[in-house]
Amino acid sequence: MPDLDKPLKWTEAKPDELKMLRALQGNILKGHGRHFTANIFLRFGKDQGKSRRLLRDLGNHHVTDAYSQLLAARDFKKCGKSGGDFCHVALAFEGYVVLGLADSAPGDEEFRQQDGMRSAGSRTDLHDPELGEWEPEFRQALHAIVLVASDTEATCGMLASRIKSRVEAGDATVVKIQRGKQLINAAGEGIEHFGYIDGRSQPLMLVEDIEHEAEITGTALWDPSFGLGTALVADPGVLAQPENTYSFGSYFIFRKLEQNVRGFKKREQDIADALIPKGGNRELPGAMLVGRFEDGTPITMSNSARGTSPPNDFNYDGDNGSRCPFHSHIRKTNPRGSGGAEQQEKERLHLMARRGITYEDIARDVHPEELPEVESSAEFDEHVAPHLPERGVGLLFMAYNSVIADQFKFAQRFWANSDRFPVGKPDAANGIDPVIGQAAVVGSQRIPVEWDMPDKKDGADIHFSGFVKMKGGEYFFSPSLTFLKGI
Ligand code: HEM
Repeated sequence: MPDLDKPLKWTEAKPDELKMLRALQGNILKGHGRHFTANIFLRFGKDQGKSRRLLRDLGNHHVTDAYSQLLAARDFKKCGKSGGDFCHVALAFEGYVVLGLADSAPGDEEFRQQDGMRSAGSRTDLHDPELGEWEPEFRQALHAIVLVASDTEATCGMLASRIKSRVEAGDATVVKIQRGKQLINAAGEGIEHFGYIDGRSQPLMLVEDIEHEAEITGTALWDPSFGLGTALVADPGVLAQPENTYSFGSYFIFRKLEQNVRGFKKREQDIADALIPKGGNRELPGAMLVGRFEDGTPITMSNSARGTSPPNDFNYDGDNGSRCPFHSHIRKTNPRGSGGAEQQEKERLHLMARRGITYEDIARDVHPEELPEVESSAEFDEHVAPHLPERGVGLLFMAYNSVIADQFKFAQRFWANSDRFPVGKPDAANGIDPVIGQAAVVGSQRIPVEWDMPDKKDGADIHFSGFVKMKGGEYFFSPSLTFLKGI
């Protein structure tokens, strides 16, 4: 049985660890890395036999196991050889029920609650919008999701069509196909629609990734190493011995988050007009909201920290909010020991493997990097705003958890949505996360009027929220391949 408290050295996996990797779906321990995806949401029909056969077929012939994914990623890194198509399957609790397999479903309470993420309880806890504001397809019970990914839009489209036909032949209905398309910057790094590098900081569960991180950025101030148990849980659907000792799965969180890019960038400019002297760095206000500059440099580090790879070896020691405001997105969602509510060891348990990808239901006019530089909000209105989308684009937030209430839900509810976190700071009310915070009380989101002037007490309250809107989502479980093949 692999040790869940430690990261895994997959290139030297022992026989039982190898079995575990062969029985585990890809994308959990490391992102699949393809730039085009399709999330195929489905509902099973009445014929349980046919639906189970569909899952068996997907498990036997389509799903990418973790070991194959890691081998392919290594080849890609060595010689640029594409890993080809990728496929992943996850079930909602309702899916297990319809298949007659409720007893085989894992036990997480958030996952098993009736109506899942749509339930009134979940929406109240997370301050999610009323169901009427969700996209229609997400208002009903979804039974499963098949995530397919490929290197080009064409190959991804073909793969999605093949899977769709297979699903329909299996007495299931495709409710929605949500495409994802990774935005990248000139350096080839993934960015999100507001223009910032995303996906840089992750809990790393593979020793090889941790060693790589140590080489490129260092690990003296922030330890990116996390045990496998950050994402993996034993798959209770596998009862047979000894398969159940190496069969793991992970809770898969999906949330479609629409981004009002024009609104967000306009507010950045308004704040720059108000706070930044002429000729000053107008990127600063945005960086204070996110916690990193668009190129990924953490704002708590000096501007000179900019390099080819965005640094991740930092913490907030000695930063009283004068460099990185307490409410900035990355400080809220990973306080790196500065949250004040728990010891760092416990605080780290709330982190999760994020595997999101940007989407464009409505194609963007202009790539974020091709927008003209401006010197005022008025100039922005004239030259930039008309090119920016207010809707139809965003992030398909996806993450793997081992305990939903302690990871995704905790981070959204008690960190991002709270105007009182981090705790114990001089100004107790710090405001909600300006990027993803959802709450009735936005709180006091003060940003320093000058960067890195720790003694200056004054700050501007920016009242920044509402530019990311939840359009639907669900809690799923990505079972082991042992389960899928034996269903
Ligand atoms: C449209 C929605 C979102 C946008 C635009 C966004 C954007 C970003 C950006 C630009 C970063 C910095 C890059 C990095 O460190 O990886 C980041 C980091 C992060 N985000 Fe988000 N994010 C969104 C949603 C979420 C959600 C829903 C959560 C969880 C509840 C989340 C949790 C995190 C975490 C944990 C980090 C890493 C912080 C660190 O380790 O320093 N994000 N996000």
